Amino acid sequence: MRRLLITGGAGFIGANFVHHWLQHYPDDRVVVLDALTYAGNVRNLEQIRQRAELRFVQGDIADTPLVESLLRDERLDTLVHFAAESHVDRSIHGPDAFVQTNIIGTHSLLKAARKVWLEEKLVERHRFHHVSTDEVYGSLSAADPAFTETTPYAPNSPYSASKAASDHLVRAYHHTYNLNVTTSNCSNNYGPFHFPEKLIPLIIVNILQGKPLPIYGDGKNVRDWLHVSDHCRGIELVINKGVPGEVYNIGGGAEAENIHLVKTLCHVVDELFASESTLKQRFPDAPAVHGPPSSSLLTYVKDRPGHDRRYAIDCSKIESELGYRAQVTLESGLRNTVQWYLANENWWRAVMDGSYRQWLARQY
Ligand code: NAD
Ligand code: DAU
Repeated sequence: MRRLLITGGAGFIGANFVHHWLQHYPDDRVVVLDALTYAGNVRNLEQIRQRAELRFVQGDIADTPLVESLLRDERLDTLVHFAAESHVDRSIHGPDAFVQTNIIGTHSLLKAARKVWLEEKLVERHRFHHVSTDEVYGSLSAADPAFTETTPYAPNSPYSASKAASDHLVRAYHHTYNLNVTTSNCSNNYGPFHFPEKLIPLIIVNILQGKPLPIYGDGKNVRDWLHVSDHCRGIELVINKGVPGEVYNIGGGAEAENIHLVKTLCHVVDELFASESTLKQRFPDAPAVHGPPSSSLLTYVKDRPGHDRRYAIDCSKIESELGYRAQVTLESGLRNTVQWYLANENWWRAVMDGSYRQWLARQY
């Protein structure tokens, strides 16, 4: 039985991971520490919030005494670190929050773990798992081989630079203090609870509202899409079987140009509107109601500064050493994701129109 601290557990991947973990390890203790920034949403945990095994704490990972007291009082032995500022565009306009949370915040967690686990020796075994990104490896050209765990770091945005710094701190705490750490670097996730500022959820909700679909630059940038459920299984494998001090790349094996991905989403929505008559009443502004395909909303816009051209993950290490296999194809994953946003209209509307933040302010 494990006792876990999950940072950022009210965000997109963290919340999916909390659901995944409690489904597979129903007797484990799970403490979620999340600051509930604009990207955090306690409703992502709504279906499991009453479970006795789960405790939610609103707080900042940079609050080292708080983290120490959680580790100590709850006798936690496993820390899974998702909390971060995660949006590249925001890092371009305001890098400070990225340095604060992704670097200072990660260091605060490492200091707390060192104190409670190594100095006070409060638990018999421990594990610090750090969730990072393939963006630390920089940008690939079309002909380059995919990123491996030994690809040199070359971060290009304030976001990826801050994640790279956090990866180095995690590595250093293993080599210097013998903290039992693992790190995973993954590609672009998608799936339920994805905040609608990122490409896939933004495109889905914009189609449904008849709004333009912004395509940066020529739309030919390539991302390697990973369904969040595959990512959660990959992290689970690393926590259970990964070697301390090692890094594992996790990918979906599904490279796609942005323009291809967006056109696929348009096609999926058009098919669903053609087969489910209620959708036209629920989303009267969607193009499918009036006739033109959803792709009529495609709008090329100014490129993101420093926009990385291509990411691709070589995940042969986690496959051969830990038995990982991505299970969700891009086609089925995109369809399921569109269906999730159709079924959870209240969730994304409340995030987008500000009513979730108003509700939250009344709760806390
Ligand atoms: P997200 O932005 O959806 O969620 C981040 C969560 O962290 C939110 O709940 C937020 O409230 C919380 N948080 C932010 N600052 C905090 C702080 N100072 N203290 C406590 N909590 C804080 O992010 P995500 O997409 O779920 O990403 C999770 C992790 O995975 C991040 O570390 C990110 O770098 C990494 N990652 C994400 C992707 C992706 O495609 N989304 C891919 C690779 C790696
Ligand atoms: O590779 C992993 C990374 O994937 C994670 O570390 C980040 O946290 C996560 O946000 C994601 O970064 P990207 O910048 O790749 O994701 P985003 O959804 O912002 O953009 C995906 C691609 O789509 C990228 O090439 C930029 C483009 N894009 C994005 C938006 C929001 C558009 O063309 N239009 C848009 O409106």
